[in-house]
Amino acid sequence: MNVQNKPGPAPAQLTHQGRAVELPVRSGSIGPDVIDVGGLYKETGCFTYDPGFTSTANCSSKITYIDGDKGELLYRGYPIEQLAEHSDFLAVCYLLLNGELPTNEQFRDFSRTITNHTMVHEQMTRFYTGFRRDAHPMAIMVGVVGALSAFYHDSLDINDPDHRRVATIRMLAKTPTIAAMAYKYSIGHPFMYPKNDLDYTSNFLRMCFATPCEDYRVHPVISRALDRIFILHADHEQNASTSTVRLAGSSGANPFACIAAGIACLWGPAHGGANEAALNMLEEIGSVDRIPEFIKKAKDKTSGFRLMGFGHRVYKNYDPRAKVMQKTCHEVLTALDITNDPLLKVAMELERIALQDDYFVSKKLYPNIDFYSGITLRAMGFPVSMFTVLFAVARTVGWIAQWKEMMEDPDQKIGRPRQLYIGSPRREFPMI
Ligand code: CMC
Repeated sequence: MNVQNKPGPAPAQLTHQGRAVELPVRSGSIGPDVIDVGGLYKETGCFTYDPGFTSTANCSSKITYIDGDKGELLYRGYPIEQLAEHSDFLAVCYLLLNGELPTNEQFRDFSRTITNHTMVHEQMTRFYTGFRRDAHPMAIMVGVVGALSAFYHDSLDINDPDHRRVATIRMLAKTPTIAAMAYKYSIGHPFMYPKNDLDYTSNFLRMCFATPCEDYRVHPVISRALDRIFILHADHEQNASTSTVRLAGSSGANPFACIAAGIACLWGPAHGGANEAALNMLEEIGSVDRIPEFIKKAKDKTSGFRLMGFGHRVYKNYDPRAKVMQKTCHEVLTALDITNDPLLKVAMELERIALQDDYFVSKKLYPNIDFYSGITLRAMGFPVSMFTVLFAVARTVGWIAQWKEMMEDPDQKIGRPRQLYIGSPRREFPMI
């Protein structure tokens, strides 16, 4: 599809201080047009002002599309529900990175290559012992993923496509190993090396839950469910952490450093940290009879409390990932014979009440992916502190795909926003 060849829309007219300025309007393949304000400063001496980037497209991209009003999410054009049902995480990684689903042969080659890079440099194991045992695993992730650039010097040249390819493979292959090691370190267990006859997700589960004295038999329903959770989290357009990766990468920083920056951003409770916060909230609510009290608190602006796992900057409809997540949650609980999880009861009732409440309805606040993911991950045996780490493992491919796309874009330049300065005007240093 050649979007450039479509007849372009008429330019937008802006009048500033009596002077009319024409701004080009660009159309994508689907979704809203954008008004190109790149020449605005030159024409008017004004900047645009959009804190939180609520109306700003920062780049053009072919990777992921979201229609927030419809509640639609597409990776390279494919609906998330279909990918979650019929594909697997590694094939989705290939799709996000290369633009097309792999053929059988391409998939075999890709999996083999990833599998061959799952071990980390042995010296890295020493790196972990510098952390306190009670360090949050996300803190360890930020440090260790950033440290990859100190270990793999032969894939740091961002201008060399082969270096970029090798760095991509290394990050995809090693992030689960690094994440599992962060978990093992936090509980005082020895690290488990990857076992390369297992698939990507089963390997990760085993590195987390096996010990040298007892192997972990991977439950196929659990492995499939986690694989699906990875698919759901793999990319999400220009969200905060992805924009962080792009901004870090725009300066020419190496890819490992950029992904470490993305992990740091993801950690925040308004972003990836929400799955941890949502489960903590459900635990705090504890029982169905306390829900009205928490709904009331969420509606009270002075309380500073929000329903975690509710609301989204882009989705003003049900988050399509949340629907798949809810189904996956039920599948996991059934497979593990957890018939009466009190937190699931609280979650379902909270969702039911909130979706009928005027406050949530009028503000179009629906459950997002994080609402049910915590219950599912906890049932699989992951502690709450690992939830955002799992999100980071899955999102690594999205960050890399977006970074790679930016590096290959001939129009790429360093990201450098401007500001509305509201501080003191120039004044002279007092001479006493
Ligand atoms: N509970 C109660 N009120 C809420 C909530 C919530 N979870 N979310 C938004 N609101 C209210 C907010 O107070 C505001 O009200 P008003 O217009 O009267 O001032 C209105 O809804 C719009 O909120 P906003 O903060 O301006 O919206 P935003 O687009 O800046 O924020 C959000 C989006 C996801 C940060 C926010 O909905 C939130 O804090 N949700 C809880 C945290 C969460 O679940 N985050 C995970 C997002 S999905 C995973 C990911 O992408 O990482």
